[in-house]
Amino acid sequence: QADEKESMYLVSEFANTFFQKTLLKTEQGKAIGLSYFKERGFTKHTIEKFGLGYSPDTWDAFTTEAIKKGYKLEYLEKTGLTIIKEEKQFDRFKGRVMFPIQSMSGRVLGFGGRILTNEKKAAKYLNSPESDIYHKSKVLYGIYHAKQAIAKEDNCFLVEGYTDVIQFNQTGVTNVVSSSGTALTSDQIRLINRLTKNITVLFDSDAAGMRASLRGIDLILEQGMNVKVCSFPDGEDPDSFAKKNTLEELTLYLEDNAKDFISFKASLLLQESKSDPIKRAELVRDMVTSISKIPDVIKQEIYVKECSRIMDVSEDVLFDTLAQMHNTDA
Ligand code: CTP
Ligand code: MN
Ligand code: MN
Ligand code: MN
Ligand code: MN
Repeated sequence: QADEKESMYLVSEFANTFFQKTLLKTEQGKAIGLSYFKERGFTKHTIEKFGLGYSPDTWDAFTTEAIKKGYKLEYLEKTGLTIIKEEKQFDRFKGRVMFPIQSMSGRVLGFGGRILTNEKKAAKYLNSPESDIYHKSKVLYGIYHAKQAIAKEDNCFLVEGYTDVIQFNQTGVTNVVSSSGTALTSDQIRLINRLTKNITVLFDSDAAGMRASLRGIDLILEQGMNVKVCSFPDGEDPDSFAKKNTLEELTLYLEDNAKDFISFKASLLLQESKSDPIKRAELVRDMVTSISKIPDVIKQEIYVKECSRIMDVSEDVLFDTLAQMHNTDA
C-alpha cells in the first residue's frame, strides 16, 4: 500500500516534469501553451515557480513516453493520467495547459488542465480523479508556496481558482490558497487552521462566487477561526483584479474592502431586502445562525452587539434567538 502510493507519487512527478518540458522546450508547447500563459501575464519565473506545463495535443504521447521510461501502466491509470478504453491508452489531459497540485510538503498529487479553445462542449478545467494520493476535498492549491507567508502574515487569503493563486503570487501577495472550484470543506479549513486563525475569503464577483463564500463562512466560524470577506468590482476575479493593479493598490484594496462576516452579509443582503420586513427578519436569523457556530462565547457576544447595531434589532431578542438555536442543536 505504501509502495503503491509511492509509485503513484513518482509517476505524478514524472508527468509534471514531462509537461513542463513540453511547455518550455517543444515547438507545440511554446507556440500554444507558453504563449497562452504569456497572454495571461505570467512571467517565466511564475511559470517555473508553479511548475506549469503543457500536455501535447496527441492521443498518447505522454503515456507512451512514461511507459518507455519504465513507469507502469497500472499507476498511470490509478493516478488518472492515462485513460484505458477498449484496451487502448489515452492521455487524459491532451492539449491542455497544466497546473500541478502540490501537497503541503510539495509533492505532486494531481493536476488541473485548462482547455485553450473556447469550445463550450468541453469542461474549461479537467482535474485528476480522486485517487489514493489525491483527495480533492483535502487539498488546497498553492499551500506549498503559501504556508510560510500564511504563518508570517497570520492571515490566509482564500480564492476560487488556480490562476487567482498564481496572479496574486506574481503581484506579491503570497499568503493565498484556492479550494479549486470545489465547495470549501472542513478538511481544507483545518489545513489553514494549523497555520493561522484568520481567513479572508476572496470570491469571484458573480452569483456563484457569492454563494460559495456565504457557504464557507459558517464552516470557518465552526473551527473557532475569524473570517472576513472581500468582494471585487463587477466582472472581476482575484486574478483579473491583481493583473490590473500594483502590489500597493492590491494591498490597499484588500485592506479597505475586507469586511467581517456580519457586515458582509448585511451589505450583500440589505441591498435587496432593505424595505422588506420578512427578508430583513430572515437576514437577522441567518446572521444569528452564523454567530451560533462560534465556539467562543465572548466573540459571540461581540458579534451579537454588532448585529444588533447594524440591523437595529435589540440585543435581548438576538440572545434569545441564539439560546433557542443552541437548544434545538442539542
Ligand atoms: N473549476 C474546475 N472545473 C471547471 C471550472 C472550474 O475544476 N469546469 C475550478 C478550477 O480550479 C478553477 C476554479 O474552479 O480555477 C474557479 O473557476 P472559474 O472562476 O470558472 O475559473 P478561473 O479560475 O477564473 O479560470 P480562468 O481565469 O482560467 O477562466
Ligand atoms: Mn485514501
Ligand atoms: Mn468563478
Ligand atoms: Mn474565476
Ligand atoms: Mn479567472
